[in-house]
Amino acid sequence: MDSKFQPLFEPFALRSGVEVKNRVVMAPMTNFSSNPDGTVTDAEVEYYQRRSGGVGLVITACAYVTPNGKGFHGEFGADSDEMIPSLRRLASAIQEKGAKAVLQVFHGGRSCPPELVPGGEVVSASAVPEEKEGAPTPRALQEEEITHIIRAFGESARLAILAGYDGIEIHGANGYLIHQFFSPHANRREDSWGGSLEKRMKFPLAVVDEVQRVVAEHAKEPFVVGYRFSPEEPETPGFTMGDTLELIDKLADKNLDYLHVSLMEFWSQPRRGVEDLTRPRIELITERVAGRVPVIGVGSIHTPDEAVKALQDVPLVALGRELIMEPDWVEKVQAGRTDEIKTTLTKHDQERLVVPDPLWNAIMHAPGWFPVVDAN
Ligand SMILES: Cc1cc2nc3c(=O)[nH]c(=O)nc-3n(C[C@H](O)[C@H](O)[C@H](O)COP(=O)(O)O)c2cc1C
Repeated sequence: MDSKFQPLFEPFALRSGVEVKNRVVMAPMTNFSSNPDGTVTDAEVEYYQRRSGGVGLVITACAYVTPNGKGFHGEFGADSDEMIPSLRRLASAIQEKGAKAVLQVFHGGRSCPPELVPGGEVVSASAVPEEKEGAPTPRALQEEEITHIIRAFGESARLAILAGYDGIEIHGANGYLIHQFFSPHANRREDSWGGSLEKRMKFPLAVVDEVQRVVAEHAKEPFVVGYRFSPEEPETPGFTMGDTLELIDKLADKNLDYLHVSLMEFWSQPRRGVEDLTRPRIELITERVAGRVPVIGVGSIHTPDEAVKALQDVPLVALGRELIMEPDWVEKVQAGRTDEIKTTLTKHDQERLVVPDPLWNAIMHAPGWFPVVDAN
């Protein structure tokens, strides 16, 4: 291996005591391939195993914490004790290959397809639909339902512990329920859960507190708690980079193991909400965090040179699409075969890459999402 890539292979100890063997993380990616009853499938397990040999940490696809939070067809569940064997299968498959396994948990809120949730009833902070053609208008959650969902996040942590995971990632990003509570677009509440920026932070912070309470009570071994957030929203009203920096400030004092920013481009710049729009978001985030908690960065990091450069800003780098296109990304860097790293795919690669049918079809039918090229 070229010594310039050595920084990628330094181990990293998280606050809880979990040690990650290197700096490369598999980003959480939904694969639409679980059984309709919420249990994981063989195809899904094989897909993870194929990608767990090199990276230090695998963050799973998001799993729903309550039945009315199921946001995708073929999503798996972390909503009841019955799911423990299924959850355990996935954790063991990842760990057998040498990576730590972190379960990402979420509630889809207003983004859930009505056909996936009980009674077709989509819920959110307020009765405001997403800004897209045909989006259902959700029902605003009542106070006791909010409390129930917060508890369900805690319960999912207990299930993750019993299923043998090394940790849990609270999915507060990408427009789902936690994000919706933080959003002035989705959250128009006038009670203690909405209104000012402070009140819009209440739900995300309550979820963190509850998950940490449950982990303190149930975990007998070191157990990671991470939090993923989006930097800003495109809509008006919508939270800005400045708003997110305030949330980060609070999260950074919560003794989390990491904060994980959800970006499509690692060095992208803010849209609004801060004075200097030319500085990359990642710099603004790490500046505000000021060493209080490790940050995981992500977004179009294709080459090991880019990954090493990213490590100047953050201690851990996540790869998403790259690991779908190149399951041996880490191994190839380690073996000095970086010129063999694939950064595209062809329509003939499904079997070779061990990708389940529903994910493969999604990739093939979403132009521009993945670099699909013609076979030579
Ligand atoms: C197929 C696919 C599914 C995804 N599902 C999730 C998900 O379940 N949870 C999540 O937080 N992000 C999800 N993402 C976003 C990725 O974690 C990542 O932030 C994004 O792909 C950018 O990183 P990349 O350029 O390395 O792919 C998904 C991305 C892809 C490509």
